[in-house]
Amino acid sequence: MDRPDLHARVAALRGQRESDAARRTRREVLRHDSVRCEVADPAGGSRTLLNFCSNDYLGLSQHFAVVSALQDAAARDGAGATGSQLVCGHHALHAELEREVADWLEVPRALLFDSGYAANLAVVQALLGDDDVCVQDRLNHASLIDAARLAGCRLRRYPHADVEGALRQLRSMPEAAAMLVTDGVFSMDGDVAPLRELAIAARVQQALLYVDDAHGVGVLGPGGRGSVAAARLDSTAVPLRLVTLGKALGSHGALVAGEPDLVDHLAETARPLLYTTALPPPVAAAALAAVRLARRDDWRRERLQELAGRFRDRAGRHGLQLMPSETPIQPVLCGSNANALAMAASLEHDGYWVAAIRPPTVPEGQARLRVTFTAAHEPAQVDALADAMAAARDRALDASTSPTA
Ligand SMILES: Cc1ncc(COP(=O)(O)O)c(C=O)c1O
Repeated sequence: MDRPDLHARVAALRGQRESDAARRTRREVLRHDSVRCEVADPAGGSRTLLNFCSNDYLGLSQHFAVVSALQDAAARDGAGATGSQLVCGHHALHAELEREVADWLEVPRALLFDSGYAANLAVVQALLGDDDVCVQDRLNHASLIDAARLAGCRLRRYPHADVEGALRQLRSMPEAAAMLVTDGVFSMDGDVAPLRELAIAARVQQALLYVDDAHGVGVLGPGGRGSVAAARLDSTAVPLRLVTLGKALGSHGALVAGEPDLVDHLAETARPLLYTTALPPPVAAAALAAVRLARRDDWRRERLQELAGRFRDRAGRHGLQLMPSETPIQPVLCGSNANALAMAASLEHDGYWVAAIRPPTVPEGQARLRVTFTAAHEPAQVDALADAMAAARDRALDASTSPTA
């Protein structure tokens, strides 16, 4: 027998990542608040960095009301749900969170999942099968691509934000049951999908529009109701949307919100919900407290807008290469992987943590520093970051053009 050796394959892939400047490492966070992170230094000891790469947009992950809701629920209900939702794991706190989110988003129903990744797998797999088609934006989140693969349906991708492209794909398969799927806010680019036009395309082509609003809910739209509400669409136009709890809501988990027939179908049939332990009730309690704050605190969204505008202004004056984003996700393009890594290292040296995002998460040649803001950042910190990024760019350029480079 001459089976391929998996250890040898793994070693070869690792070598390839090494030569492509594509190795990935996890950093150990010792302590953090919404703005600062103390991270372990691989050489020993630790460093405190200003964090510009978290998704805690509203700065709620450490809010006292959120943390004390978690502590109280843990004291009362224990640490775990002890079963899947359809056995004994569906707690009153889960139900209350589902009702609160449905009320907030003005949709009939919301259903809780353990994560946004699991929820995306659930939606596509529960609704589409072999003969069906899932039409997706090319820059959709990886979980949506995986979802279509798992469902076994045909996956057709259209160029980013190209509604004509989406229509072409739908028209080419008029017989197949179809979903049109898009991120509301694109996670690595920060731009917002053309939801009104996509809603028309879906209606004309009798496709079901699903919007993954992981980065929109809490941040965009009236009352923070997300990109769908910002586009003045309701659950007739967008029958299902994804809300994640681990980003603007500072907690963990996700909900699929929308039309009752579809949501109820998911509750009975979605494998990523059936065959997993329900979210710990204290986490649901924390998320519930965060949702109530997110609904109330318009100032957090106003602050984010102000910080993003301020950064764009200053970074633009430094000649940094920004992308067309109005959201708290403000990527700065660096081109090569090596350049992105050099700039991230230089920023870390100056006390800033900004994530270098490289392929396959973004297209080849578009490595970037993904800057994100939270409502807890100070304007002066944002100004200082833009200045430090310009200095990091100049240092990376000097290093790459020096005779010894
Ligand atoms: C657009 C998008 N969808 C889904 C997810 C998955 O959500 P979660 O982290 O809750 O699994 C993420 C982020 O991780 C995301 O950015």
